[in-house]
Amino acid sequence: MLRMKHRAIIPGEGQVTILDQRQLPHKIILNDYTDYRDIITAIKRLEIRGAPAIGIAGAFALALAARAEVKTDVEHMKRIMTDLAEEIKAARPTAVNLSWGVERVLNIAHDFGGDDKQEFQEHLWDEARSILEEDERLCEAIGRNGAALLKDGDTVLTHCHAGALATGGAGTALAVIYAARDAGKKIRVYADETRPLLQGARLTSWELMQEGIDVTLICDNMAGMCMKQGKINAVIVGTDRIAQNGDVANKIGTYTVAVLAKEHEIPFYVASPYSTFDSGQARTGDEIPIEERDAQEVTHIQGVPIAPEGVKVYSPAFDVTPRALVTAYITDKGITPGGRAD
Ligand code: MRU
Repeated sequence: MLRMKHRAIIPGEGQVTILDQRQLPHKIILNDYTDYRDIITAIKRLEIRGAPAIGIAGAFALALAARAEVKTDVEHMKRIMTDLAEEIKAARPTAVNLSWGVERVLNIAHDFGGDDKQEFQEHLWDEARSILEEDERLCEAIGRNGAALLKDGDTVLTHCHAGALATGGAGTALAVIYAARDAGKKIRVYADETRPLLQGARLTSWELMQEGIDVTLICDNMAGMCMKQGKINAVIVGTDRIAQNGDVANKIGTYTVAVLAKEHEIPFYVASPYSTFDSGQARTGDEIPIEERDAQEVTHIQGVPIAPEGVKVYSPAFDVTPRALVTAYITDKGITPGGRAD
């Protein structure tokens, strides 16, 4: 099992601890939450982020909500849980894992046959825990499957952060790096800084350094030059949602990297657990809801203004890479070819 130095979310007894990713890499702050509304806030403000991690957090949020309602019986609790689930799912719209995790706990609630409230609450808590534990195994499998695609000495470009802190285990894209390293291969990583919120600079480069991986940080607009100079052998990214036709939503800028990778004939891989495949809602990438974030995330860097006050801003948090630009999907079940012809 890939063992990581830091975890995004740690469940306790009727409480969860979340590592505040907004403070990284400078401070390691752990926040304990017992109220589901605080977890919604933590998801919205990216204290916890990354598709699988917010799915896990959403599952625990619903399990906590069921613990809070002390005056109600199980049947009443079941009735109000659908609304609570919608409230949690609305925290962030793009990553399908959030609704997937919340729905799993909701289904367990509706299937519960007894009337013992404590048993009901524990049942939901156990389901949230099992989602976390399952995600750890999924990361492991993604790593194992993807590692076979990398050769000793390869350099991988990644965008945003798809490591341990974005999941319940070793990550998706970064699990591939860790597994290849553990298989004895020397793998280097180039990490895009990933404006506006700098997940690549703050989280990917930090996590990889913590894990002893050779990482080089670049600004987003340097990726093309690095590819042209022959520095990159493969691109591996995570994803927030894969539509039924294979289109991939991921952090804004991923599409640009995919276009560049095709131009330079560099394989473009998408690493993902089954929980990120949208089985019910989005048939194509056009149907994936794209979150727009506060203008201040563009006009400011870490609270410091960098643009004229009042400037117009467009701030989509994700973009969609068509299946035609994907070489292959690295999943927990194996490698599935994408739509790129070369
Ligand atoms: O806005 P964020 O930081 O939650 O965006 C995260 C990403 O885009 C990740 O690449 C994606 O969730 C995959 S995480 C394994």
